Amino acid sequence: MKFFLDTADIAEIKTGIAWGVVDGVTTNPSLYAKVGGSYEELLKEICGLTKGPVSAEVIADDADGMVAEGRAFAKIASNIVVKVPMTTAGLEAISRFKAEGIKTNCTLIFTANQGLMAAKAGASLISPFVGRLDDISEDGMTVIRELAEIFQHYDDLDHCEILAASIRHPRHVTESALCGAHVATMPLKVLEQMTKHPLTDKGIAQFKADWSKAKGGK
Ligand code: G3P
Repeated sequence: MKFFLDTADIAEIKTGIAWGVVDGVTTNPSLYAKVGGSYEELLKEICGLTKGPVSAEVIADDADGMVAEGRAFAKIASNIVVKVPMTTAGLEAISRFKAEGIKTNCTLIFTANQGLMAAKAGASLISPFVGRLDDISEDGMTVIRELAEIFQHYDDLDHCEILAASIRHPRHVTESALCGAHVATMPLKVLEQMTKHPLTDKGIAQFKADWSKAKGGK
């Protein structure tokens, strides 16, 4: 399973990469707004930090506008993936990007049918938002589970990967993995939380205490 960092913060990306568990990065306009500056320069820097896919999101509402923005992103680096919203214009843009050999990540997916449409249009990644569905008292993981099951039935969807997005806590990652999501994108905080267990901390403290005792001759 692949892990992406869901951030535009360079320091956070460097930290996650140093842990050896980051396979790519996803950004969006809200994450970019937290750091500011030039989006293009930021993307260039992120693409220099990881060889994995780096999602850059378009703002236009129409297919022509999305294609123009995406083509410009794709020129920044070979690992750019153009993030396109789930609309009919988005589907057209995804299909046109596919014809040009530009990879896409279809974002803001909240149903299995939306994911299926994006995959059929040619998206390389589809991003169901788990946490935002949980926020409105729905079960976000159901979308991941349904899509993973659908993907098992059809070879013609093999070009596309299910990317569990809007991940809020470590349990979301475990469940996404159990469902068969290919990728989970998450904030650095969740990636760090995944390393934690109180018995690990207790065990380290105990080993240190016993080591000191042994060295002290007691
Ligand atoms: O990058 C898309 C997605 O992961 C956003 O998550 O927490 O804003 O719902 P969130």
